[in-house]
Amino acid sequence: MRTVMVLNGPNLDKLGTREPEIYGALTLSDIAQKCAEFGEQHGLTIDFRQSNVESDLIVWLHEAAESKTPVVINPAAFTHYSVAIRDAASMLSAPLIEVHLSNPIKREEFRHTSLISGIAHGTVSGFGANSYLLALRAMLEL
Ligand code: DQA
Repeated sequence: MRTVMVLNGPNLDKLGTREPEIYGALTLSDIAQKCAEFGEQHGLTIDFRQSNVESDLIVWLHEAAESKTPVVINPAAFTHYSVAIRDAASMLSAPLIEVHLSNPIKREEFRHTSLISGIAHGTVSGFGANSYLLALRAMLEL
């Protein structure tokens, strides 16, 4: 069975109570559960992780690069300024898909820049928890 790493950045552990009008009512555990169910239905093992710490995400990207594991990532606020996460993600050889619950382009100007989009296979934004499932569906075809 193919493993896909699903990585989540800062403040996503607060989903459910964090600005629900923007991010929805589901918790990150709910999203992890949906991803796991999708994986079971489609023969993928989902390795779902979250951290508020930049270095954790960097170490996990190194791990994915070494094991040639495909990655779905919601870098959260790191999307907009972390050169370190972009550099780590650049080392991946398996596909990388960027996801966002909201559509950052519809929001404040500082969210319009993504340092990840330019190295991702593609980006899925604006569909809430479904952004993750759409990204996993796309991963099946890559
Ligand atoms: C986010 C969008 C980012 O701008 C924001 O900093 C987040 C969440 C999203 O999923 O919509 O934390 O990545």
